[in-house]
Amino acid sequence: MAQNWTPSSWRHKPIQQVPEYPNATAVAATEATLATYPPLVFAGEARRLKKQLASVAEGEAFLLQGGDCAESFLEHGADNIRDFFRAFLQMAVVLTYGAQLPVVKVGRIAGQFAKPRSSNIETLDGVNLPSYRGDIINGIEFNEASRIPNPERQLDAYRQSAATLNLLRAFAMGGYANLENVHQWMLGFVKDSPQADRYRKLANRISETMDFMKAIGITSENQPSLRETDFFTSHEALLLGYEEALTRIDSTSGDWYATSGHMLWIGDRTRQLDHAHVEYFRGIKNPIGLKCGPTLQPDNLIELIDALNPSNEAGRLTLICRFGHDKVADGLPKLIRAVEKEGRKVVWSCDPMHGNTITLNHYKTRPFERILSEVESFFQIHRAEGTHPGGIHIEMTGKDVTECTGGARTVTADSLSDRYHTHCDPRLNADQALELAFLLSERMKSGRDEKRLAVVNG
Ligand code: TRP
Ligand code: MN
Repeated sequence: MAQNWTPSSWRHKPIQQVPEYPNATAVAATEATLATYPPLVFAGEARRLKKQLASVAEGEAFLLQGGDCAESFLEHGADNIRDFFRAFLQMAVVLTYGAQLPVVKVGRIAGQFAKPRSSNIETLDGVNLPSYRGDIINGIEFNEASRIPNPERQLDAYRQSAATLNLLRAFAMGGYANLENVHQWMLGFVKDSPQADRYRKLANRISETMDFMKAIGITSENQPSLRETDFFTSHEALLLGYEEALTRIDSTSGDWYATSGHMLWIGDRTRQLDHAHVEYFRGIKNPIGLKCGPTLQPDNLIELIDALNPSNEAGRLTLICRFGHDKVADGLPKLIRAVEKEGRKVVWSCDPMHGNTITLNHYKTRPFERILSEVESFFQIHRAEGTHPGGIHIEMTGKDVTECTGGARTVTADSLSDRYHTHCDPRLNADQALELAFLLSERMKSGRDEKRLAVVNG
């Protein structure tokens, strides 16, 4: 176990992004209650994910991580969860087919409730109120009562996470994710989009292959891998009191695990080496992520890797790079070189969302072409460095929202107001997510062909 570490040792360190709860006794009472609740995930599952991520680190699999920027209490419901999962499965199938590699599936879901903010105060028409920090902390409505941090919300977040996870497990294991349903995952509003045709063709080929396999005796009844999929959960572990209450010793290994989700990540604003979040993360055995933005210097990254993955275990650490389309060429290669030089095993993942946020007509938005451009650069840079572009991390929804501009069925600056529903950052709609998956699948396919050619040509 990490030296001098306990689930509460973070409390002795400086910390960023903490809500100001008016009543510390009430917070402690909530945390004590949470500590009696059952874990949401089981350590064995986190180890299974870590193993799958280890194969991503080795270049033998690809990571797909995505979901809401922030989950909300108001939008909690079966339809939303199902539509997200359908869009996610479509992406996964497109990527598996293109890369001809296993796709590790991790949702930003069932716990993604706490948001870091650039300012503690939000001002509207001359009124100052505490900023919205996610439904686990306060309410989004702009009035004083809703903006005061309320610890009871942590219990609601726990319950919503449990219910969401329960449905996702049912979908993943109970037949919904069966490859025989590959046509049914198409969402109604995607059906007449330019992506739909491409998807239908791919789904037809998969169905044909399935029919062939059936003829030779391999069916989804006798082959669970055709019928089931491993789906994991993840979130930014920002609210450490909540995380601590759900940190438990795994009886089979004697190790500490965060049980609020399978994978947790540290945000770009809370990754100071000697601060609370890094302290908490170093002691849990889950696979973890670290957001890497333009301010992260190579030396600093190596120090963080020393603290977070001292035994250089593959699959433990995913570096989620979020530079921006215009900064990735400058920022990413030097991080890759430092990591390669030191021989550190990491998963390289591209978050093309958070470095590409702009304001248009008073809406926070992200131009789809900048998102694609950052992904393209990420792949090119890894090809040039000889490293594996291991995955992507995106904010997406299964709904037909108009939050990011562009895409094949163009969302314009003026149409942003039509269906702008996000509680925080703009997400890709299902159509844009599928378009991104096709682009990725092409890049991976050409990477594969290049490798084959290299083998043939010796
Ligand atoms: N079990 C395999 C996997 O998860 C194949 C599979 C089953 C699959 N259902 C799927 C792949 C849905 C993608 C999407 O990869
Ligand atoms: Mn976000």
